Amino acid sequence: MGNNLKNYKWAMVTGASSGIGRQFAIQLAKKGLNIVLVARNTEALTEVANTIHKISNSSVVILSADLTNDIDVVIDNTSRFDIDLLVNNAGVGLYGDFVDKEYEEYENMMKLNINALTRLSHHYARLMTTKGNGGIINIASVAGFIPMPHFSVYSATKAYVYNFSMGLWAELRPHGVHVLCVAPGSTQTQFFERANMSTGQHLMEPEKVVDGALKAFEKEKPLYIPGFGNKLVYQFVRRFFSDKFVANVLERYF
Ligand SMILES: NC(=O)c1ccc[n+]([C@@H]2O[C@H](COP(=O)([O-])OP(=O)(O)OC[C@H]3O[C@@H](n4cnc5c(N)ncnc54)[C@H](OP(=O)(O)O)[C@@H]3O)[C@@H](O)[C@H]2O)c1
Repeated sequence: MGNNLKNYKWAMVTGASSGIGRQFAIQLAKKGLNIVLVARNTEALTEVANTIHKISNSSVVILSADLTNDIDVVIDNTSRFDIDLLVNNAGVGLYGDFVDKEYEEYENMMKLNINALTRLSHHYARLMTTKGNGGIINIASVAGFIPMPHFSVYSATKAYVYNFSMGLWAELRPHGVHVLCVAPGSTQTQFFERANMSTGQHLMEPEKVVDGALKAFEKEKPLYIPGFGNKLVYQFVRRFFSDKFVANVLERYF
């Protein structure tokens, strides 16, 4: 069946209420897929569903859920759909001095960025390997390639997503399941405001990030890094500078 998205019937997108996830939902619907939208904000999810109804004939299912707590509910309510493509996009950042934040805030971030993503991957990878096809797109970050003082927990969760996804790519490939890791840099979404962080000036549009990611998925690439500067971090910074040096420089910068 290959990874032509036109062969897929159902996609599930987490964090579909805004930003990159909203774009995944819209662009996948344009390609003819039916979509399960997952996030907490029902009103925002309804707006995404209405937008999809205007531009496609896709069926849309809204599932309002907090992925830090309601993961069993999400699995129970989505297993009846024959999900061909899982987009693990929901994620949050938290910027600041490590010791100033309450531990619970980090724990919630890890539950969302790591646990929910792994649990959903596990559940749907089992079903996909049984039928012999399907795909998983995991959203990591350029922040996962380097140590980031004052953003360490987020950066570490994304390093997890990167390593997990690359390993899974090789493991599931022989079973007809394609895994793509997407590692965006700064993108114009609600991410920075929610993470309590100021933004740089060169933000990518989520439309471009998602368009490139879907093309990379169909070409069966394991990793997609949108934008030249972000590719440079992966190819150049990691290769020529030690983690110690990068951590020290970023500590001064932040
Ligand atoms: N923007 C960037 O610069 C950037 C760069 C690299 C990587 N990323 C990654 O891209 C992904 C998408 O983020 P974004 O940039 O599009 O930011 P965003 O606009 O803030 O979107 C985050 C999405 O995650 C959902 N979400 C947050 N907490 C949730 C929870 N507990 N349960 C369920 N859903 C939850 C939000 O929906 P609700 O609030 O409705 O629940 C929202 O739909 C994240 O994994 C992020 O780490 C972003």
